[in-house]
Amino acid sequence: MTAAATLERPIDTTRLRGFVTAFADLLAATRDEQAILDSGSALLARLIATDDWLPQEFAQPNPDRYQQYLLHCDSRERFSVVSFVWGAGQSTPIHDHSVWGLVGVLRGVEKVERFDRLPSGELVAQGEELLRAGEVDAVSPRIGDIHRVTNGLADRPSVSIHVYGANIGAVERATYALDGTPKTFISGYANRVIPNLWDRSRNA
Ligand SMILES: [Fe+2]
Repeated sequence: MTAAATLERPIDTTRLRGFVTAFADLLAATRDEQAILDSGSALLARLIATDDWLPQEFAQPNPDRYQQYLLHCDSRERFSVVSFVWGAGQSTPIHDHSVWGLVGVLRGVEKVERFDRLPSGELVAQGEELLRAGEVDAVSPRIGDIHRVTNGLADRPSVSIHVYGANIGAVERATYALDGTPKTFISGYANRVIPNLWDRSRNA
């Protein structure tokens, strides 16, 4: 399929629109982080249970580095939704988030390595796990915020959907060297346009 044909194909935005609407409702109902993570995990699990709604242009790997595409940002920047796309063998640096986040695997497998940071600045590995399609993980400064994520598949891309408690591409946060030395960064996004969730002429 050509890129043009992909762009012209009607995308059913119902699932993603329903997800962002439900998430806005959740944040209007509570500001308690654990309640947001618990109820938000259930919403995200439902979204990623079906892999038929992510437009192809937001699932494109890049041969040079993993990609972070913005799918939606709340108008008050209370939360953002992104797709993360790892090509074969690609990995993030060790990094933090500084806000709560939910990670749900839509396609493929991700290896998550968790770290604690001691008051001295030293990083201590806390173990690793594989997240498979349909599974959801959480991060926050309260429950553990530092990790490294690697595509768990050696031969094809993996894609996950993340929700963060801010406009994550605009948040100043840090990557860490193995000795714990931090380096601040602001990630931005790989895309210049976002999905149109609000054209209801093609679907309900
Ligand atoms: Fe992360």
